[in-house]
Amino acid sequence: MKRKKTCLIAGGAGFVGSNLSDALLAGGFEVICVDNFRTGRTTNIDHLKREPRFSFIEADIIEALPASLGRRRVDWVFNLACAASPPHYQSDPEHTLLTSVIGTRNLLSYAEQARARFLLASTSEIYGDPQVHPQTESYWGYVNPTGPRACYDEGKRAAETLVFDYGRAERGEVRVARIFNTYGPRMRADDGRVVSNVVTQALAGDDITIYGAGTQTRSFCYVGDLVEGLIRLMEYDGSYGGAVNLGNPAEMTIHELVERVLRLTSSESRIVRRPLPVDDPQRRCPDISLAKRLLNWAPQVRLDEGLRRTIAYFAEDAAAAASFPSRPNRRPAARKTSARTSERLAKMKNASVPQMERTLTNS
Ligand SMILES: NC(=O)c1ccc[n+]([C@@H]2O[C@H](COP(=O)([O-])OP(=O)(O)OC[C@H]3O[C@@H](n4cnc5c(N)ncnc54)[C@H](O)[C@@H]3O)[C@@H](O)[C@H]2O)c1
Repeated sequence: MKRKKTCLIAGGAGFVGSNLSDALLAGGFEVICVDNFRTGRTTNIDHLKREPRFSFIEADIIEALPASLGRRRVDWVFNLACAASPPHYQSDPEHTLLTSVIGTRNLLSYAEQARARFLLASTSEIYGDPQVHPQTESYWGYVNPTGPRACYDEGKRAAETLVFDYGRAERGEVRVARIFNTYGPRMRADDGRVVSNVVTQALAGDDITIYGAGTQTRSFCYVGDLVEGLIRLMEYDGSYGGAVNLGNPAEMTIHELVERVLRLTSSESRIVRRPLPVDDPQRRCPDISLAKRLLNWAPQVRLDEGLRRTIAYFAEDAAAAASFPSRPNRRPAARKTSARTSERLAKMKNASVPQMERTLTNS
């Protein structure tokens, strides 16, 4: 019988990583998750505790990787480790940059020794505030190398450089996914990203903050679609050796997104405006022709459906935390947010992100 592959996922306790773990386990793979819980959470992987094909190692990829890993046979290494939201990656910029550079190098060396295929979760942020629209993989980007986002953007650019140098030197098979805005269950309420901000504010009945005029555009990819794209890219056996955009090309303004969330949650939240954060890109939209051609991949989940699942997740999470029994038969849009749930949502949003940093948020 053919042995199922074993996958190491660095950053596996995070939003994307835990959804990727679920998908790989469902496909019969073995998963080793490595995480330092900087932004990941035990609750994202608690349900896998009794799964014999899942194991967890608490480690920081900046440090030497645990010796126990050397004894495991690993076929695929996914490097998803890196705080991804501005307030989190800016709260310790040095650690963010080193995670991308030293951490990626450690995992590349590990993959080389294990003869494993390596995939880097890179980002659309490497395009900076793009002067080309939509962004194709051949565009080199327009990044501020000294601003507050540089620890993330330049870190990922350097990580890509390392990965492609390993590939050119034939030290291993490498893949790079440039991920655009992704949303869905297991995002953190306090991560300062636009979808989690707007959904939690709408559910709590709080004012919804729009930064700038709200005319800046984003495109939002449902996490299940992204995970499918990551697996297809890892599986890809063809000869193309460059980075591949993964995201949803359906572009919309932040204002349109807010209107949709208000409608889906039946929220009466008011919209308030704040100044745009530093280096906030005005337009962001992937050109995914390459992913379509190479991987036969395109997002399948429509925004309303993805938002419904995300709203349900945040509502359930807040209700569970506030000890209210959830009622699966009721649509979240129709659910009235209780005072305790609302209080819990406010706490979730404020946890661990200092006020000063939160004013920078808008991804
Ligand atoms: N979610 C998005 O919209 C998006 C967009 C572009 C790129 N990405 C990339 O995808 C990856 C996953 O993003 P996410 O949204 O799941 O973020 P996340 O913050 O939820 O997950 C990142 C995980 O990495 C872990 N981590 C961070 N530094 C580490 C270190 N030094 N050692 C070990 N573990 C470490 C965190 O604890 C967390 O579990 C990131 O690399 C991110 O740059 C995500």
